[in-house]
Amino acid sequence: MSVRPIVTLGDPRLRLAGEPVDRFDKALHELLDDLTETMRAAPGLGLAAPQLGVSLRACVVELEDDRVLELVNPTIVRGDGNDRDLEGCLSVPGYYGYVERREKVWVVAQDRFGRRIKAAADGITSRAFQHEIDHLEGILFIDHLDSLDDLIPVSRIRAEQGLPEDDEALPASA
Ligand code: NI
Repeated sequence: MSVRPIVTLGDPRLRLAGEPVDRFDKALHELLDDLTETMRAAPGLGLAAPQLGVSLRACVVELEDDRVLELVNPTIVRGDGNDRDLEGCLSVPGYYGYVERREKVWVVAQDRFGRRIKAAADGITSRAFQHEIDHLEGILFIDHLDSLDDLIPVSRIRAEQGLPEDDEALPASA
């Protein structure tokens, strides 16, 4: 396992739609391991293969019980409710924005061995699922804003929420 560099805004690889995964081999397992290690080192709540410059439909999401869920070829099959909250992206460092998402989502995907899995999530995990699956389409949270003027710099989040100069105190990015 290794921590790989995270691709940031401006790199065209971030805007490519991921190719479906059809080989559940050692290379995929290494990619998933590196996604988890890189996400945890950041730290972040999720990470998608295009953020490592790899154009494949694979991502990881940190669950609330400290388990990591690996999603290969994920699709959102159902959404319910709406929720507007702060969102940040490891590929757009230094900024957050208020993004409207589905409050709860149901996802079908495959695991690292190609077995079909289902997952449902609400709250911050639902937001992370939607954020990561967007990445697999080359979509970033900033695309959901009416204007880039709606981006909120980290310094303002810290000031408004009375947070210390410590990145771990900030709302999670993914
Ligand atoms: Ni992101």
